[in-house]
Parts: sequence; structure tokens; C-alpha cells
Amino acid sequence: KNIVVLISGQGSNMQAIVRAARDRQWGRRWGARLAGVVSNRPEAAGLAWAQAEGLPTVALDHRAYASREAFDAALIQAIDGLCPPGPFLVVLAGFMRILTPGFVEHYAGRLINIHPSLLPAFPGLHTHERALQAGCRFAGATVHRVTAELDHGEYLDQVVVPVMPDDSADTLAARVLTQEHLMYPRVIERLLAAG
Ligand code: GRF
Repeated sequence: KNIVVLISGQGSNMQAIVRAARDRQWGRRWGARLAGVVSNRPEAAGLAWAQAEGLPTVALDHRAYASREAFDAALIQAIDGLCPPGPFLVVLAGFMRILTPGFVEHYAGRLINIHPSLLPAFPGLHTHERALQAGCRFAGATVHRVTAELDHGEYLDQVVVPVMPDDSADTLAARVLTQEHLMYPRVIERLLAAG
């Protein structure tokens, strides 16, 4: 059971997943392995971390592609190329690209994402700023299946954190991120156990 993780930046969720796979012995228990880490940004810090971990990495600079469809076709080749004929699961972890319906269709049922809000509240960007602006007392994150409609697939899990009176977007984001790192590996492990 091959898992490919897609990132765009820091990749802290990817790191939490790699650590959980090792510490919780996903390979021995479910034949699961991290087949590689793919990024749309060659300078993503998570790529260097993954390389240092000995994981295969692929960087596809989305600016080098004429269209979204062309990029997504190259992305499919890269992902499936890491583990022919294709992965058990594609994990979007801080991956900041909107995927084409063709890509989503190709990985239908095998594609999940983490979004830093309590969906259906605050789909899209700048979620913590918006939660603070709205005066929310709680915030959180959602892991969901990916469908063609942005941030709208079946919810697989959510975590909630309190909003503090003196929170900034950064302090709230840090509190949510800590919980994301616990939730995402938990969800993946559940999917592995369910086969
Ligand atoms: C996190 O808030 C995650 O929810 C969102 O991207 C942010 C950074 O994630 N998708 P990471 O540190 O790159 O995993």
C-alpha cells in the first residue's frame, strides 16, 4: 500500500505522517510505505526534509506548464511513476493548488486533504484570519476526501481548538497545526486498517 504525499511548502503535516508511519509501524502492520513526496514548488522546505529522510522526491514547478491540465497530467505521471501502477492513497498536505477534475477523477476514492478550518465554515484561503474576524470562539481543521468541488468532500475527521482573546492568525494557526499533526496520521491509519 503505497502512499504519496503532496506538499507546497513547510510540509509539517507530511513530516508528522512520515514519523507516524515509522513510529506506528505502518509497514509491518499494513504493508504501507511512503512511496515519495511531490511538490509543485522546487523550493518547498519539505522536499529537503524528505530527501534527508531518504524518501524519493519530485518537484514539478507549476510555472513551467502552459495549463493547469498540462501540470496535472505531469503530476499524475510523477505520482504513478513513484509506485507503479499507482498509489493506495494520495495525501494533500499543505498542497496549495486547485486540482483539475481529470486529476481528481484519476485518483477517485484515493485522494484526501487537510483544510485548516471547521468545514463547512471558511472554505478557501486565510481561514484563521476569517475565523478571528468573525469572532469565532473555536477553530480547527478538517480532513476530507477530495472531490471536484473545492473543500467539499466527505469529512473524515475534525479537530477543534479554543480561540484565545489575544490570538493572532499566527498564534491560532500554530494551535491548529499542532492538532493537525495528530489528526492526519490518525485518519490515514484508519484508512489503512480498513484496507
Ligand atoms: C496547514 O495549515 C494545513 O492545514 C494547510 O497548509 C498549512 C501548512 O501545512 N493545508 P504544512 O505545514 O505545509 O503541512
